[in-house]
Amino acid sequence: MGNFEVIIYEKKDGIGYVTLNRPQVLNAYNLQMRDELYQVLAAIRDDPEVRVAIFKGAGERAFCVGADLTEFLSAPSPVIARQVRWERDVWGLFLSITKPLIAAVHGYVLGSGLEIALCCDIRLASEDAQFGLPEVGLGIIPAAGGSQTLPRIIGRAKALEMLLTGGRVKAEEAYRLKLVNQVVSRHDLLPAAEKLANRIKGYSPVALACAKQAVTGGLDLSLEQGLELEAKLARSISP
Ligand code: COA
Repeated sequence: MGNFEVIIYEKKDGIGYVTLNRPQVLNAYNLQMRDELYQVLAAIRDDPEVRVAIFKGAGERAFCVGADLTEFLSAPSPVIARQVRWERDVWGLFLSITKPLIAAVHGYVLGSGLEIALCCDIRLASEDAQFGLPEVGLGIIPAAGGSQTLPRIIGRAKALEMLLTGGRVKAEEAYRLKLVNQVVSRHDLLPAAEKLANRIKGYSPVALACAKQAVTGGLDLSLEQGLELEAKLARSISP
């Protein structure tokens, strides 16, 4: 893998590192990033050497500020801009990956930046992180899964507050809301993510995939159906 321009993808000791790399525009998500992310996600899914992945942002100021507004505004209409942007089902692919995914976020985590983090299983934030979904202010709504993933993580009322006001939530509040698992200093962000990844990557990939599927799949089922799913997955890996 390689030859990417706006994403850096590296593999080291079983960990895939995905770095959003447009720091001059706070890692705004453009069409090229969408295409590269799609390829990187497929590689993470298919490469048995990758046991766990870490997503991070380049530069000091942001993980990602959401959709690139210059592309967005140059399209014939917001609706067409959206159609073009989501033609590739990056988000469906993201959510279908059964390997553990960790987001290590700092600075601005807005719009699709937050939605990328929400597609991950564990979110670590540095103290300077700020989270928000500013889409309503632009006359649109989140379309990278945010209206579905956010309430499943922080609950309906707080998710609606974030969506309807477009307001930003700082790291400490994000921790209180259970939007992030841990808040650490900027300096400790990547080491903390690597510590988790190193621990996880030693476990059986099949057990990890089943555990992830049982939780994420089960949350959309009744308790009875969820228990059936768990039993089925447990049987599938019984020695
Ligand atoms: N798309 C494209 N470029 C963006 C961008 C975006 N979403 N957000 C920031 N940038 C660019 C700015 O144009 C600026 O570029 P320049 O230096 O060439 O002028 C650079 O990134 C730095 O941003 P700037 O606005 O100067 O920084 P700031 O500290 O004053 O403000 C934000 C930071 C995040 C509050 C502000 O940039 C912002 O509100 N961005 C838009 C967020 C948004 O609405 N995203 C879309 C979600 S759907």
